[in-house]
Amino acid sequence: MLTKKHDRLVGTYFDKAAVTFDTFYDGKRSRFMRWVDKKFRSDMFERFRLTFGALDSLEGSTVLDIGCGSGPYVVEAARRGARQVTGLDMAPGMIALATQRADAAGLCEKCRFTLGNFPQDAPQGQFDYAIVMGVTDYVPDTAAFLRAVAKLVKRRAVLSFPSKHWFRTPVRKMRY
Ligand SMILES: C[S@@+](CC[C@H](N)C(=O)[O-])C[C@H]1O[C@@H](n2cnc3c(N)ncnc32)[C@H](O)[C@@H]1O
Repeated sequence: MLTKKHDRLVGTYFDKAAVTFDTFYDGKRSRFMRWVDKKFRSDMFERFRLTFGALDSLEGSTVLDIGCGSGPYVVEAARRGARQVTGLDMAPGMIALATQRADAAGLCEKCRFTLGNFPQDAPQGQFDYAIVMGVTDYVPDTAAFLRAVAKLVKRRAVLSFPSKHWFRTPVRKMRY
């Protein structure tokens, strides 16, 4: 019951925040917000760089991006030669933006998107790689989540975990 309420809050929050969240990646924010992002959210750019540094060549591989958001990792994986990239997210607004991003990059044939809540809506089959960035922050049962990821991955999964932050941690606690 608690988990269902939590999932609804997370899904609704990210659905509403999808467009604003997406502007982060494309530098479409105001000068002030770009300064804020650089000062306080530079870890988001760093983890993008580290993720693809931690993955082998993706040539011909299959990739699952859990909590794909507006799809920056999905499109980058496809750009790097993955044969098929699946993005899963619980927020319809994020899935819509991710689909647009893949279309705009001319990579929609390699990318497929699924609306769903992981692990309940885990896709069938296995994938060479999984990417899970900025998602475990919002997961109530991390152990069950990680076991489900491990079952789906043949080669390697790259995940981020939140550190305790003086500002972000209490804000998230209140929000969800
Ligand atoms: C902070 S955003 C990160 C998006 C993307 N991975 C990135 O780094 O740009 C977190 C995303 O995870 C999604 N999400 C959170 N929990 C999820 C779950 N259990 N199943 C599917 N999506 C989830 C949210 O809807 C949101 O789009």
